[in-house]
Amino acid sequence: MTQRPPLAGLILAAGKGTRMRSELPKCLHRVCGVPMAEHVARAMKGAGVQSPVIVVGHGAEKMKEELGGGYGYALQAEQLGTGHAASSAADAFKAYDGPLLVTPGDTPLLGAETLEALTEAHRKAGAAVTMATCLVDDPEGYGRIVRDGEKIVGVVEHRDCTPEQLEINEINPAVYCFDCRLLYELLPALSNKNSQGEYYLTDVIAEIAKRGKKINALVFDDLTEFLGVNDRWQLTEAAWLMRLNILGGHAENGVTIMDPGGTHIDADVEIGLDVTVLPGCVIQGSTKIGPGSQIGPNCWIKDSEIGERCRIYMSHLDGASVGSGSRCGPFSNLRPGTRLGEGVKIGNFVEIKASDLADGATASHLAYIGDTSVGSEANIGAGTITCNYDGFAKHRTEIGAGAFIGSNSTLIAPVRIGDGAVVAAGSVVTDDVADDALVIGRCRQETKEQWAKSWRKRKAAKK
Ligand code: UD1
Ligand code: CA
Repeated sequence: MTQRPPLAGLILAAGKGTRMRSELPKCLHRVCGVPMAEHVARAMKGAGVQSPVIVVGHGAEKMKEELGGGYGYALQAEQLGTGHAASSAADAFKAYDGPLLVTPGDTPLLGAETLEALTEAHRKAGAAVTMATCLVDDPEGYGRIVRDGEKIVGVVEHRDCTPEQLEINEINPAVYCFDCRLLYELLPALSNKNSQGEYYLTDVIAEIAKRGKKINALVFDDLTEFLGVNDRWQLTEAAWLMRLNILGGHAENGVTIMDPGGTHIDADVEIGLDVTVLPGCVIQGSTKIGPGSQIGPNCWIKDSEIGERCRIYMSHLDGASVGSGSRCGPFSNLRPGTRLGEGVKIGNFVEIKASDLADGATASHLAYIGDTSVGSEANIGAGTITCNYDGFAKHRTEIGAGAFIGSNSTLIAPVRIGDGAVVAAGSVVTDDVADDALVIGRCRQETKEQWAKSWRKRKAAKK
């Protein structure tokens, strides 16, 4: 591998995002399962920034907790504008001399290739700053690029534009590659005399122009990657665009997506060859789906691992793993800690939590299995309940290989049903059952011949 020259990166993500109307800091809002700031940070890493620095402020602790390690953090205690945000990270780059990528944290669609292209253009041009600009039909809300002839002489925020400037259709996506030293030399001189009373990073551009230093621009004509999310509808728009990319990517890799409008797949989901996703599926988090499986219709699957050739339909899976050749649904509810072996069959209205079911086990209808281990080829009858909770603590149930649990059985944990044992239908099992034993835990049936007939006769006589 060739060694890439050093490249630093700064992500401005301290803002509250007032226009989002949310308790959550704006850049933590997720697009296809990943916080916006993380999408941007991943793009930076992809472009060769080893450890991007993220400026946090509003909800700083929560931001750091959610975004985790792998990044540097700078604190902007008070959010006084994008220029002030960049200043807050000064310490992080004290010892650094080279190109610095600077982006907002609210542009989740920004790609690594674009950042790479910007950096490369910057290095080639030997510029003081290389900025992305974008030609758009509707520049509403974005800063406008002001040119004098060919030369960029500044950026004016939408709110500060004159009527003539509002007509400019070249906008500032706020994606820059700066000469780091120069940027930090210019930032302290910014003023906040503008409509929002903020220190604008964009004002640095005019200052660079004034000093006669080189401003380089890569002009784009598709806003998609630069879409800035300032409100909830833009969040929806960004998610919609990213979703199409994700679905398209899976299709390219040999996955059939039947209904793109009704299929939501998070950015980190992995799907194998020849998987078919039927309409109405929401597949989230770190889910992995093995080759040849069929998912849907109407499934919600989160942080789960599904093997090869599985059939999962109309079911909920959260933190579950499903072995190859298994079937779930309709209406199975696999909760965290469910681990199914190969060729397991789970049917309608079966809820499973923190339980292992070994190869070939079946629970075809109406059961609750919690804190249980089920041996291979065991059969759990309809209406089986593992009573795992006594009101204070959870207890385990063990069901041996090849055991047969008759319908409507109540297994009161802690309890063990031996290998090959049979539990008679309707039993309440309180004590361990040995291998190959039969347990009948119910009242013996009593039948009174002709009782019903004589009862009706007595009733009729009283009328
Ligand atoms: C900014 C640009 C605008 C550009 C647009 C592109 C400025 C002054 N304006 O406007 O030219 O067209 O992005 O999307 O730079 N932030 C902080 N601290 C602050 C303020 C903001 O960290 O004090 C962060 C925000 O969290 C956000 C980013 O900086 O991620 C941009 O801020 P935002 O308020 O969204 O700026 P825009 O009005 O979109
Ligand atoms: Ca913005």
